[in-house]
Amino acid sequence: MVRALRGDRPEVTPVWFMRQAGRSLPEYRALRRRGTMLEACLDPAIASEVTLQPVRRHGVDAAVFFSDIVVPLKLLGLDVEIAAGRGPVFTEPARTAADIARVTAIDPALVDERGDAIVEAVRRTVAMLADEGDRRGEALPLIGFAGAPFTLAAYLVEGGPSKDHLAARRLMHADSAAWHDLVAWLAEVTGRFLALQVRAGASAGQLFDSWAGALSPADYRAHVLPASAAALEPVRAHDVPLIHFGVGTGELLADMASLDIDAIGVDYRVPLDVARARVGRDLTVQGNLDPALLFAPEPVRTAAVERVLTEGLAARAHVFNLGHGVPMDADPDAIGDVVRAVHAWRAPERARP
Ligand code: CP3
Repeated sequence: MVRALRGDRPEVTPVWFMRQAGRSLPEYRALRRRGTMLEACLDPAIASEVTLQPVRRHGVDAAVFFSDIVVPLKLLGLDVEIAAGRGPVFTEPARTAADIARVTAIDPALVDERGDAIVEAVRRTVAMLADEGDRRGEALPLIGFAGAPFTLAAYLVEGGPSKDHLAARRLMHADSAAWHDLVAWLAEVTGRFLALQVRAGASAGQLFDSWAGALSPADYRAHVLPASAAALEPVRAHDVPLIHFGVGTGELLADMASLDIDAIGVDYRVPLDVARARVGRDLTVQGNLDPALLFAPEPVRTAAVERVLTEGLAARAHVFNLGHGVPMDADPDAIGDVVRAVHAWRAPERARP
């Protein structure tokens, strides 16, 4: 996995899934019966166990740390919870310049000071992955992650999930000075959260800008890209490959790929060979089976997996994934079948001269 992210093409294409942990797994639902989502994220025993569950069950080639993009904001004392079936909800949205001044007065360094539970959870997870990898005879990396400043701002300004992220886009234009203060602060907060995971032992990092697809390329470049670059900066001091992903970002791929990253995550709307051409430089591609295909009959699903793998040949290397997260009602057996189909596939021999 790590070699593929850095640009090598292993014989077997590595695979993991966004949201591979979580409610699609009965063992997750059993473990999460009590307590809130964010309490579970800050409990090292639960967070590490949940992180391992899909690795054991599906045979994927990496774990993704069980946490959430709003965890660093919770650590800083913001009143945020995760509403089941909705997503992050803030009691006090940051809408006005005064709200933003109040929030950005909080010292981002508190993420490190208060991050012991995260460090402990990552350390435990890495140790558990080493045991699991010994059993399997392969190294199993932990992928750490964080939310990009725009996606975090989309929740914090709106106060909760939204379809069009109008509150954030409105602030960007109505008070661009306050907007820039906010995303610069979020960049420092979320960059520290990702760097914390890497220092504790994560082998790769993914920056999720899930909702960046709501922006025009010009607005993305002017109001978002510099903050995303600032978020990646402290992680770059550590020698781990970085992935960047967003949903509906077909028009933004070249701009997102201009960041200092190793791999670009592509959602299911853009074929990987088209994405490779749009990116304009030879990054590893990650993706991009439509999650809806987990519900298709086996022959349809396997044909789609093979199409994605073939399109992935256009890039220097390919890490197989879905085009967004595993749906919570997906059949775990279908996910395991996809892993087996990816592992069984081999690139066709090139025609020899
Ligand atoms: O397996 C993994 O991918 C690792 C864990 C992970 C979670 N959240 C766990 C989670 C990751 C990588 C995230 C990141 C995250 N959180 C993103 C970026 C990824 C993406 O999907 O685009 C975003 C936008 C969030 C915000 C968020 N948190 C949403 C929209 C939701 C879903 C709300 C719901 O109930 O449908 C959450 C909650 C959440 N994060 C769950 C999990 C397992 C479900 C919590 C539960 O058990 O009820």
